[in-house]
Amino acid sequence: TVNACTGTEPAGTRHTPANRGQGAVVRFPAGFSWGVATSAFQVEGATRADGRGRSIWDTFAAQPGAIVDGSSADRACDHYRLVERDLDLMRSLGVRSYRFSVAWPRVLPEGRGPVNAKGLGFYDRLVDGLAARGIQAVATLYHWDLPQALEDAGGWERRDSADWFADYSAVVVKALGDRVDRWVTVNEAKIIAREGYQTGRFAPGKSDRVASGRVIHHLGLAHGRAVQGFRASGARGAIGPCVQLAPCYPADDSDDARRATERADVTENTLYLDPVLHGRYPRGLADADPEAAAGIRAAARDGDLDVISAPVDFVGVNYYGPQVMGGNGPVTRYPVSSAGWQQVHPRGLTDVLLRLHHDYGSPEIVVTENGVPDAPGEDLHDASRTTFLHDHLLAVHEAVAKGAKVKGFHAWALMDDFEWAFGYTQRWGLVHVDFDTLQRTPKDSARWYQQVAAANAVRP
Ligand code: NOJ
Repeated sequence: TVNACTGTEPAGTRHTPANRGQGAVVRFPAGFSWGVATSAFQVEGATRADGRGRSIWDTFAAQPGAIVDGSSADRACDHYRLVERDLDLMRSLGVRSYRFSVAWPRVLPEGRGPVNAKGLGFYDRLVDGLAARGIQAVATLYHWDLPQALEDAGGWERRDSADWFADYSAVVVKALGDRVDRWVTVNEAKIIAREGYQTGRFAPGKSDRVASGRVIHHLGLAHGRAVQGFRASGARGAIGPCVQLAPCYPADDSDDARRATERADVTENTLYLDPVLHGRYPRGLADADPEAAAGIRAAARDGDLDVISAPVDFVGVNYYGPQVMGGNGPVTRYPVSSAGWQQVHPRGLTDVLLRLHHDYGSPEIVVTENGVPDAPGEDLHDASRTTFLHDHLLAVHEAVAKGAKVKGFHAWALMDDFEWAFGYTQRWGLVHVDFDTLQRTPKDSARWYQQVAAANAVRP
């Protein structure tokens, strides 16, 4: 099999063309979906409105020191109240596809049991508003905001979590299934497992690698159960997972770097792709993360992998950057964005898309997220974001030219929002948000993206 670990290239190689805008246009396939993305907890605010229950992120953010600027998402962008305005904003930007998430605690305040009609009504109006404006709806069922009541009952560490998620998904699919084009089951199981259960930097803030293995297995099971339920419902539209992929490259040609790269590739990529798309856990898992592997082994039962690998319609890919591995751990080879953790390497996106194409049966692919925070002081004039998106779109196009079936692209994010443990200190939006006045102002990159969407093309 072809591996995304494509070997070394000279340190410091830059992939930022100096001559942007001067070449011939690079055209995307007809019908390509030009989108933007958000998630419920990061933009909605109104955390106590209309019967919403508490989520693990409300609890986590309230702990001293959990969020770097001590902020909460209680108001965030107030998208819950300003949704009509935000729909108009998307329309004015010529966006064709909107990826949002449904907040489980709005729909089922206790995680299971009675449906909160008011909470569900918000998403009902949202998908109507998208349809009225000719914007496709891409709905994520789980973007990290587990109802606190379910966490209190054991959360994702418990096998029942797959049942809870299946029941919740059925409620949402039944209500919105006639108007949603694509369903995304679970957003970035990798980040949930790693940051929620290994480093403890994200909710629920645990540091227990064996538990992270159980959680990985249960998130897979939850995904598969939702896919099966969706099929049984007969709803229109498509369904798939969303994986954050990071191609892994060796820092040098030593055996140690090569081995470290192979291990990183398991925990970054194959651990989340193989169960869903090949129906098995990857070889090398016990070597790459022995404790998580033990947790998975303890959680897995006969037949689970058949559920986890229920056929999907597409694979959602979130891409932020690669991992470069030396013999002694990760190293920095590419420019680092102001996110701190993100190395900027557009060609890595071509690599992960082509790997899916070659190694995983050529699935339909949707880029569900790609983006970068403002560089310091950029404000509305975010040239670095335009360059970033430009370079990554050329990388997508290259994969398409080589056969990858990429159907759409969603810039992360529509607007500045609550960036998890970084609070409001990182601005990821195409649209600037003044968090005092809630004023939205398109940045230069939004205007540029609008032209790309209108032309269905990028200039190299
Ligand atoms: C991926 C996550 O899905 C999203 O919630 C987050 O804001 C972005 N990465 C940027 O870190």
